[in-house]
Amino acid sequence: MNVPNYKDAKSREKKGVNILRDFSIEDDKKKIGNNKKYFIKTYGCQMNERDSESIGAILEEMGFSKVDDYEVADLILLNTCSIRENAHNKVFGMLGRIKRLKEANPNVIAGLCGCMAQEEVVVNDIMNKYKWLNFVFGTHNIHKLPTILSEALENQIQNIDVWSKEGDIVEGLPVKRDNNYKAWVNIMYGCDKFCTYCIVPYTRGKQRSRLKEDILSEVKDLINDGYKEITLLGQNVNAYGKDFENIEYHLEDLLVDVSKTGIERIKFITSHPWDFTDGMVDVIKNNKNINPFVHLPIQSGSNKILKLMGRKYTKEKYLELVKKIRENIPNCVITTDIIVAFPGETREDFEESLEMVNLCEFDAAFTFIYSKRAGTPAAKMECDISKEEKENRLRELNQVVNKYSLESNKKLINTVVPVLLESKSEKVGMLMGYTDTNKLINVKASDDYIGSVVDVKVTNVRTWSLDGELYE
Ligand code: 5AD
Ligand code: SF4
Repeated sequence: MNVPNYKDAKSREKKGVNILRDFSIEDDKKKIGNNKKYFIKTYGCQMNERDSESIGAILEEMGFSKVDDYEVADLILLNTCSIRENAHNKVFGMLGRIKRLKEANPNVIAGLCGCMAQEEVVVNDIMNKYKWLNFVFGTHNIHKLPTILSEALENQIQNIDVWSKEGDIVEGLPVKRDNNYKAWVNIMYGCDKFCTYCIVPYTRGKQRSRLKEDILSEVKDLINDGYKEITLLGQNVNAYGKDFENIEYHLEDLLVDVSKTGIERIKFITSHPWDFTDGMVDVIKNNKNINPFVHLPIQSGSNKILKLMGRKYTKEKYLELVKKIRENIPNCVITTDIIVAFPGETREDFEESLEMVNLCEFDAAFTFIYSKRAGTPAAKMECDISKEEKENRLRELNQVVNKYSLESNKKLINTVVPVLLESKSEKVGMLMGYTDTNKLINVKASDDYIGSVVDVKVTNVRTWSLDGELYE
């Protein structure tokens, strides 16, 4: 049994990163899932979605087949998220339902993985109150799933195997992608920024950048498989390459090389304002297949709060960057994340966040009430903001954010935008897809267009989506 340990999770040793390339599943483990069905539920961010695509592929190599209804599954796996309290609550709610299912059918096997598995408090809870859960593994040892699962089945005791120390890079895991036209490509794991509210540096470990050769080879394979769009993924993509020992190679270099592969559309998330260089602006501007879309979390508009958050930029610096992007890439969509009611946030601090939304005119924003995460520095900060006030601030912020989202969409009416059509829309006779600037759009088109990038004339807009027709 290996349980998580925050002391190790926090440490950042200067030693290099191991790259493991020898993943394989032993023959005796390849039959474990024969005639059995698995269900996987993924919570949280794209990083988790991408992990689930590998977990699913490993399970299929072990003989399992996928189902979308947990009630008919032999194996249920929850790939969890720790970012806010409500993500936790959803998982615990689901565990309650699985418990009832297991009471009716004790042969069902259930496991938990992902970020919550890396949390000391969660695993303690599981050992005390969820003894029926068969196995737990973390974000650093997905490649050990075949062993962990077979041990859980053999020994019939709760198998907890969570590694807290740093983590390696594991290349060559199988993957079964959920989408046939757009794909997630990890470029780095972990995060070394330690923003004071954030649990990610503890649950995902130290920053480890993948080698350029591995990323480019994955992109080339995706092109050969007919993929049209990739999103380069990292918690903090602008710091890509900073952890290399004797290699000077950064996100802008990677973007240029990925662009040269000729893939039709390239996106990248998530950017940190701190590491966003002028070179990055030029790279987006000068390469047609790099989409004019930047997700740039501001978190707060108050310098006092930004400092308490450990974000290491000021609102003035942030504004300067937004101006630079808007001036150089006029059609660029800029989206953001904003937290309200961080400990110590006064009404004036909050109003500065509103002011930044007005100044930056974000095309869209994800907004959150601060959620205390055990083990992070902010968890020790005093917070005397009432629940009602927190909710009022969120509501007020959303009103301003939504106004700009609608305005941003209105500017597109009667313009022609490139859209990757992905699947049937919920609206009859329409397909759904995303613009190059990551806006959701429903398009009147026949199914033959699924998987193509087409020009679309925007006919109608709402706050969160657009309608359009093929422009021919
Ligand atoms: N409380 C609220 N929001 C948070 N985020 C990260 N940690 C917390 C927290 N403890 C938000 C940030 C981040 C996004 C992914 O989630 O805005 O950018
Ligand atoms: Fe969390 Fe900050 Fe790292 Fe983003 S940059 S994952 S908010 S610590």
